[in-house]
Amino acid sequence: MSELERIGISLDKTLLDMFDELIRRQSYQNRSEAIRDLIRERLSTEETSNVNAKAVAGVFLVYDHHAAGLSDKLNAMQHSHLYHVISSIHVHLDHHNCLEIIILKGKVKDIQKLSGAMTSLRGVKLGKVNIMSTGEGI
Ligand code: NI
Repeated sequence: MSELERIGISLDKTLLDMFDELIRRQSYQNRSEAIRDLIRERLSTEETSNVNAKAVAGVFLVYDHHAAGLSDKLNAMQHSHLYHVISSIHVHLDHHNCLEIIILKGKVKDIQKLSGAMTSLRGVKLGKVNIMSTGEGI
């Protein structure tokens, strides 16, 4: 971490009250950490808007493992993208449904392509992709 600098911010009282209420619900101990995280979040979003930037992502899939060929297709995708698939976790939610979380790393455009292919598979009920900066430099 580089050296710390103190800054002052002028805010509308209502806006500050809303912010304080928000960060209280999120269990922040102080405003500084909440503001730092907001800035990092914004920088991460900006960084990952560049399709050539390096990023990491969590792909969350809820699917019925009885759906024809779906588990095999998901497995095959992961085996053929070893460079991008860092890890995965599979949870049997009930008799039918599974949660799979697949962690990807690589260029944003490669993550988007691979995660899109996963979430759009027939039989995937819910698919969410969370792409973020690798944290380098922020
Ligand atoms: Ni399962």
